[in-house]
Amino acid sequence: MSHIFENKKYIKIVENILFNSNFVKLKYDDHHGTNKYDHCRRVSYISYKIARFLGCDYIATARAGLLHDFFYGKRLDKDENSYLNHPTTSAKNAKKFFKINKKEESIIKTHMFHQIFLKKIFPFINRKEHASVIKSRPTCIEGWIVCLTDMLVAFYELFIYKIKNNLKYAYNISLICIFNYIFL
Ligand SMILES: [Fe+2]
Ligand SMILES: [Fe+2]
Repeated sequence: MSHIFENKKYIKIVENILFNSNFVKLKYDDHHGTNKYDHCRRVSYISYKIARFLGCDYIATARAGLLHDFFYGKRLDKDENSYLNHPTTSAKNAKKFFKINKKEESIIKTHMFHQIFLKKIFPFINRKEHASVIKSRPTCIEGWIVCLTDMLVAFYELFIYKIKNNLKYAYNISLICIFNYIFL
């Protein structure tokens, strides 16, 4: 991740968020076996690169990518941190501490669309929460970039930091998949 700090163009876009003391607190929150600060930074930087390559709004992509999981504590700690509620909480925090525009707000709020979509294929995932596929999908190309990057980065981090060194976690994930196919 150190190469991120060598990309001056990227740093210039996100420095007011990246080094803000309220945002830096995310370093102390576990997330996918790593911490939320590194996860957000990874999603933001990869999304920024893709947006630049595609000629999209890379500024909104980098900023919203960085702020997409801007909530404190674990997802199971409180209702506002849940799988499907935390995008709204993150957008609320982003507005509280930084000035964000409508597009950035929308990117943050729709970044968990992959989870809603996955729930349709694997209904055993997060059975308590429900959301509409139509209403929750990203509204702009930058939203799709952050959403898909978040999903891929989450899989990568889960594999690198959790499954590889934690057989019990891998076993639980496998059981969920098997239950899906046997009972549904
Ligand atoms: Fe998220
Ligand atoms: Fe995320």
